[in-house]
Amino acid sequence: MAKNRFSKAWLDQHRNDPYVKQAQARGYRSRAAFKLIEIDQEDRLIRPGSLVVDLGSTPGAWSQVLRERLATGAGGIRGRIVALDLLPMDPIADVEFLLGDFREDAVLAELSARLGGERADLIVSDMAPNLSGVATADAARMADLIELAVAFAIDHLKPEGALLVKCFHGSGYSQLVERFKQVFLRVAPRKPKASRDKSAETYLLGRGLKPAALAQARQQAQTAPVPPAPLVGPV
Ligand SMILES: C[S@@+](CC[C@H](N)C(=O)[O-])C[C@H]1O[C@@H](n2cnc3c(N)ncnc32)[C@H](O)[C@@H]1O
Repeated sequence: MAKNRFSKAWLDQHRNDPYVKQAQARGYRSRAAFKLIEIDQEDRLIRPGSLVVDLGSTPGAWSQVLRERLATGAGGIRGRIVALDLLPMDPIADVEFLLGDFREDAVLAELSARLGGERADLIVSDMAPNLSGVATADAARMADLIELAVAFAIDHLKPEGALLVKCFHGSGYSQLVERFKQVFLRVAPRKPKASRDKSAETYLLGRGLKPAALAQARQQAQTAPVPPAPLVGPV
C-alpha cells in the first residue's frame, strides 16, 4: 500500500471509530458488519433456512453476519450462503465463495449454476466500484452494478424475496428508486447509523417481486437455452 494513501485525518477517524473497535472486538472483518446487522434488526431479512446471495462480499463481514444468523447451534447452518466478489475472500465456514466480476456473463452464468435452479430468499449487494472521484462517472458505474443486481433478482429471487443494494444518494438516485418501484411491491431507503453521515452511501431495499417482474422471469426461463445433454448416457 502506498505510504500516504490514507490521510492522517482518515487514519485518526478510523482508529477512533466505535464501529471499527466493535468489529475488532467481535471478530468481524470490517465495520460494514454493523450496517447489515442494523438493517436486519429493523427488517428481519435473514431467516433460518434461507438461501442468501452476498454480492461484493470481500473481505467477508456481511457473510459472517449471514452465517451467524443461519447458524444452527450444532456447528453448521440451516440454509445456504453463496458469496461473490472480484477480489479473493478468506474462507468462512459454510459460505460458498465464487471469485469473479459480476458484470461478466460467464461469472453470472456460473453463479446461476451454483444456485442450481433454486431461488434465493435474499440477495444483498454491498458492491461498489473503485471510485475515480468523477461523480457522474462513479454514479454511472454504480448504477450499472445495481441494474445488474436487479436483473439478477428478477431471475433468481423467490416471489416474496428481498433485494438489498448499496447505492449513492446523488445523481441517478431517483431513477434508481423508480426502477426498484417497477420491480418490487415494497421499496424503502435505509441509512444505517454505521454508514457515515457524510458519506453519500445509502441502501435500497426491495421486497416482493411485482407480477410483471415475475412474468418476465418466467418468460426468461422458457427462452433460456436448454442445457446440453450429458455426453455419457446410462450403461
Ligand atoms: C464495500 S466492499 C464490500 C464489503 C463486504 N460487504 C463486507 O462486509 O466485508 C465492496 C466490494 O464490492 C466488490 N465489487 C465491486 N465491483 C464488483 C464487481 N463488478 N463484481 C464483484 N464484486 C465487485 C469489491 O471488490 C469489494 O470487495
